[in-house]
Amino acid sequence: MSRLKIIDPVERQPVEGTASTGLSPMDPPEAYAPPGLDSVPLEKMHPFLQHLSSDHAELTKALDTIEDVLQSVKTEGFSMASDRALMRFLQSVDQSFIPHSRQEELILFPLLEKRMLERGEHSKGSPVTTPVDVMRDEHMKVLQLASVVLNLIRVASILPDEKSAMLVVDMAVREATSLVEVLRLHMFREDNIVFSSACRMISAAEFDEMQARRMKAHRHHEHEHGHDHGHDHGHEHGHEHDHGHHHDHEHGHAHHHVHDHDHDLSAGHALPLSE
Ligand SMILES: [Fe+2]
Repeated sequence: MSRLKIIDPVERQPVEGTASTGLSPMDPPEAYAPPGLDSVPLEKMHPFLQHLSSDHAELTKALDTIEDVLQSVKTEGFSMASDRALMRFLQSVDQSFIPHSRQEELILFPLLEKRMLERGEHSKGSPVTTPVDVMRDEHMKVLQLASVVLNLIRVASILPDEKSAMLVVDMAVREATSLVEVLRLHMFREDNIVFSSACRMISAAEFDEMQARRMKAHRHHEHEHGHDHGHDHGHEHGHEHDHGHHHDHEHGHAHHHVHDHDHDLSAGHALPLSE
């Protein structure tokens, strides 16, 4: 109940992040067709990047769905069905986007950032920033917005006065709309700019190694969470079942297990979605 941590949506950071240098291909409004965009086609990318990109494609489906829902809320008002759809969407951000961006941050970004700095592909000012910083900021931004939406929905659901509740729902819808926009632009930038840079700067052997790390983390995750493929996959992370492993860290929420492993890339959901 009183676990609600209200985040002020007015205080949030601008979407552009740190690399607003003016001529950067990372900048809106031409962000979707920046000059000199020379993207490597998906089929020419290493499987490691193809996999990350297919995560984006999955998330895009969730974005398409929620966009329709948000549109219908504007015309027909907020219903139980839109509430459920919004929660499902936040759940897919929590369960797909978070582990995905963690893989990027832990496996891909460190080497990519190093190469960008070596090649002088960074901002001129101080502190020096690269497109990788922008991507990290955007990951953070997505999580912030998702928390804002979640909190607003929860607040709306406990407000006794319907008029106030509707105002809060309106805010939630606005924030959710901007979450969708941020996610779309972010994935576009990764698919068309950042991954292409990675193709130029990282060798096949290095990608092989990244892929191996990803697979290892994935197997580890499967083991930890007792996934087995003949079984119901509608699992809830960490609920009730005993993994028999070091799951005693709790970050404020009983259901948020933080594992004791250095490279547990797929664990640790950030949104307090569980009841
Ligand atoms: Fe990504």
